[in-house]
Amino acid sequence: MLALDLAFALDPVLFAKEALNFYPDPWQEKVLRWSGRRLLLCCSRQSGKSTTTAILALHRALFYPKSLILLVSPSLRQSSELFRKVQEFLRELPPEMQPELLEDNKLSLVMKNKSRIVSLPSSEGTIRGFSGASLIIEDEAARVSDDLYFAIRPMLAVSNGRLILMSTPFGKRGHFFKEWAEGGDTWERIKITAYDCPRISREFLEEERQAMGDWWFRQEYLCEFVETEDNVFTYEQVMKALDDSVKPLFGGGEDV
Ligand SMILES: Nc1ncnc2c1ncn2[C@@H]1O[C@H](COP(=O)(O)OP(=O)(O)O)[C@@H](O)[C@H]1O
Ligand SMILES: [Mg+2]
Repeated sequence: MLALDLAFALDPVLFAKEALNFYPDPWQEKVLRWSGRRLLLCCSRQSGKSTTTAILALHRALFYPKSLILLVSPSLRQSSELFRKVQEFLRELPPEMQPELLEDNKLSLVMKNKSRIVSLPSSEGTIRGFSGASLIIEDEAARVSDDLYFAIRPMLAVSNGRLILMSTPFGKRGHFFKEWAEGGDTWERIKITAYDCPRISREFLEEERQAMGDWWFRQEYLCEFVETEDNVFTYEQVMKALDDSVKPLFGGGEDV
């Protein structure tokens, strides 16, 4: 392997800058250099999460032969959009780094080193059969069904693969919220609001706040898990009601 290839293999940030001409924000550098197994990205719209993880997917496929990388999202259209970002970066590579592709279509590619990147459909029934994934990236995770999430997790078992859930919040429900709020320290968490993104101006955000109202603005740009508007009880109220100190109405009391 050439010295430069080795340097790229060891440092995805260097790879992004030198091979793809992409200059990551500080938090994107952190994601690219992340070495753990479970990562939650709770980020504003347009902050750059899909772009960053597309680079991570490409890096893994290029430098770790036989990697299986799966892209999951609420719809096949969205997974294939993420996949298209991977393909665009692939074309950015300098000619000497272009891998030979054994297969290359709208939904998947296979490199000569046997690495595969596949965008998955969103129906849980049709995705069974993949195993040994080395990286799974779930995009718009707050809107991916829990059934789908539970169907993909076993694909990491044998390979001890890595899992990224990334999303803008969508209420206090579903696996993305649950892992964020209660998933414990198996997960690394990164939160990026629109104010943390150098490409989104204050003026634009002020205009958005006016146009969409406070509730949507807090969700889409400030990454808050705000209650769905039709909730009768807030999440905190329900959790408090489930607290141990609440005595059952009938039976089960201490003095029975
Ligand atoms: N570090 C960066 N430098 C320049 N442009 C960036 C950077 N990160 C993201 N972008 C651009 O910002 C836009 C939104 O990125 P995207 O990854 O689609 O965001 P998200 O998935 O968070 O909504 C895209 O046009 C992308 O090319
Ligand atoms: Mg995106």
